[in-house]
Amino acid sequence: MEEIVPDRRSGAAPARPLLRLVEVEAEESDRIPTGLAELDRVLGGGLVPASLVLVGGEPGVGKSTLLLSALGAISQTRRALLVTGEESSVQVKLRASRLGGCDAVEIMAETELETVCATLERERPGVCVIDSVQTLYSAEVGSAPGSVTQVREAASRILRVAKESGVATFLVGHVTKDGTVAGPRVLEHLVDCVLQFEGDRYHAHRILRATKNRFGSTNELAVFEMTGAGLVGVPDPSALFGKTEPGEIGAAVTCTLEGTRPLLIEIQSLVAPTDLAMPRRVGTGVDPKRLAMIVAVLTRHAGLPLGTADVFVNVAGGVRIDEPGADLGVALAIASAARGMPVRDELAAFGEIGLTGRLRPATQAARRVEECRKLGVTAVLAPTGTVGARLEADSIRQALSLGLGESSA
Ligand SMILES: Nc1ncnc2c1ncn2[C@@H]1O[C@H](COP(=O)(O)OP(=O)(O)OP(=O)(O)O)[C@@H](O)[C@H]1O
Ligand SMILES: [Mg+2]
Repeated sequence: MEEIVPDRRSGAAPARPLLRLVEVEAEESDRIPTGLAELDRVLGGGLVPASLVLVGGEPGVGKSTLLLSALGAISQTRRALLVTGEESSVQVKLRASRLGGCDAVEIMAETELETVCATLERERPGVCVIDSVQTLYSAEVGSAPGSVTQVREAASRILRVAKESGVATFLVGHVTKDGTVAGPRVLEHLVDCVLQFEGDRYHAHRILRATKNRFGSTNELAVFEMTGAGLVGVPDPSALFGKTEPGEIGAAVTCTLEGTRPLLIEIQSLVAPTDLAMPRRVGTGVDPKRLAMIVAVLTRHAGLPLGTADVFVNVAGGVRIDEPGADLGVALAIASAARGMPVRDELAAFGEIGLTGRLRPATQAARRVEECRKLGVTAVLAPTGTVGARLEADSIRQALSLGLGESSA
């Protein structure tokens, strides 16, 4: 681990007068709309002035595209600056003409930290995007650009400028292979808000989620579609992801909660016989430990013969569910695949599965039921006691007999 030596002259610091909170001038910070309703929602209702937001994501996921569109919209009402260290002004211009509406965005191709800070202090734009924080370089710090020391130094200097000069700043950060921003999550505690941009670069849909937010709820999620004209928000992802083909084996719909937002989502599963001593449990978009637990509960408490089978689970649209309320949907998809029996038509299931095979109520069940109703799902399968659920079950065994197609008439 590299170390920075704090540059503080000790001893001669004067004491400062204190304030009561009541004396603090609190201009109820007017949030800055970014022009992308979905981005605003993830930020908790717009960008807070003078805040520092870290946007992380894998290469090519669309970070630069998203933030340039936002700058374009912001530039209609206040000054918007793009500091690009990664692409030349010409490259940015090409993207801007594809997106449109970016004529008023100011641009600076610069990687020297001192120059960037000095420019921000002098120009004081309302919003600034730094693409990316890893390209910023300070000669005062000995190590190479992109190193932990450099990145940390850059972020803390930018933070100071953002707060003192009132510049709301987006920092673009590359995500390393293990999924953390700029090495050992060095920036996450420093910034006000951490947004993760996820999704397959070969897939049209991208998912933006807040993993930290000082001014709003975390785990808020937004879906965007990458088009030739940039990223377009998908306001109703449930309608897009929450559908199965009637009669399809191995597919189930669950209603999961992402932040404050219920989301209907299709889960698919394949169960195939295997000779492997350690059968595979492969999940895309589900937590592997949770998946192993669900498979074990299905084997032990619902009598499914999964001990000699590979189990694959896939969540639609590249969404990642890490919330126990989705357990029942995952279990239903696996059971459908294992028994070769479709899930009842127009059914959505949610609820947490306990190790004993008993179902536990999911949090905010009313909102989930409401979302199902909105999307025209007629049968909601949920743990006993869930208000509004048409099918209620105490145990996983009972849930499977209600949820699988046998008695759908
Ligand atoms: N003409 C186009 N039509 C549709 N999609 C495009 C077009 N041009 C680029 N894209 C999409 O934009 C993506 C690149 O977006 P962008 O450069 O914003 O990503 P990034 O996250 O900033 O990447 P990096 O980490 O390399 O800077 C490509 O993967 C591609 O999917
Ligand atoms: Mg980029």
